[in-house]
Amino acid sequence: MSPTEALRMTKTVGEYLLGGGAVSQFEKVLRGQVDERDDRVVYLIDYYFRDGALARRLPLKPADTILYIDTTDEPTTEAIDKLVADLRPGATVKAIVGIGGGATLDSAKAASNLLTNGGAAADYQGWDLVPKAGVFKIGVPTLSGTGAEASRTCVMMNQAKNMKLGMNSDHTVFDRLVLDPELTATVPRGQYFFTGMDTYIHCVESLAGRYRHAFADACSHQALRLSREVFLADDMLSPENRENLMIASFLGGSAIGNSYVGVVHPFSAGLSMVLHTHHCVGNCIVMNVMDDFYPRATEEFRRMVDVHAIEIPRGLCRDLSEQKYRALFEATIIHAKPLANALGEDFRKILTYDKVVEIFRLM
Ligand SMILES: [Fe+2]
Repeated sequence: MSPTEALRMTKTVGEYLLGGGAVSQFEKVLRGQVDERDDRVVYLIDYYFRDGALARRLPLKPADTILYIDTTDEPTTEAIDKLVADLRPGATVKAIVGIGGGATLDSAKAASNLLTNGGAAADYQGWDLVPKAGVFKIGVPTLSGTGAEASRTCVMMNQAKNMKLGMNSDHTVFDRLVLDPELTATVPRGQYFFTGMDTYIHCVESLAGRYRHAFADACSHQALRLSREVFLADDMLSPENRENLMIASFLGGSAIGNSYVGVVHPFSAGLSMVLHTHHCVGNCIVMNVMDDFYPRATEEFRRMVDVHAIEIPRGLCRDLSEQKYRALFEATIIHAKPLANALGEDFRKILTYDKVVEIFRLM
């Protein structure tokens, strides 16, 4: 692409409250947006926190709504439409808060856009299709790695179109964030590793891509440095490493907001669509067989897996029906932007049906 074609407006998160215990000072994040007692705030909280202990730390008012989000499956366009339909009755929503991992944060971002723009979630899947700003939105990550807190997308599965795609828009970016590393203290080790690796993979893909610029590169380099510090250390869950990973995730998400991912995410999206594999586990399954595309990173990834004795699932695509391989191929190859970023506009000549199936069989 020409230099002028590559130029586009870019938005990043405006303000954030960072530090251990920040979530207990939530009223600071609402200030200026939610000042009246009857201003309604919607809190979408990962159902992992459904015992209510986390909610009790929030400045809740009678007008507010708390919904616990079931994240067993990744968000679908249908689930988001239902969520928004449930939120519409009652007072106008002044702010929407997502507290959780990538799925919960993405649900909050999508709901925010739909509450002001109307229509259905699927209408806005793509690039720059959201006409106006959503409801004021605040993100509180309780898992580090997806970069959903920083990115300009919210990924949803669209079963009708066999496609996993986000609302890629400046309007999808959170207005404010609470980055509280204490919230990740209880994350199980495996989940911490898989999710954290998402940011490592984002940066590897971004730095190996064709659509690059200095801002994305700077974010990626720094996020990679922090990820290595975390995942090559013996104690990846130390307070210092949890803070490092939270910042790495934020920087990694900022990087892909300004460039694109590469080969790993399209294959991982294929796994999600066809076999319902979760995003971060799927990425790791794919990263484990990326020797042809990212040889040094694949080797480094395996070293990190070894340091923490993480079990990467294997064999899930070894013996599938022809129909399933065809579906995996279609759900992968549809991601033209990241694949062209990684392999050039002629990526279909490299990723033929046979090659794609060969890669899936390795997983
Ligand atoms: Fe990702």
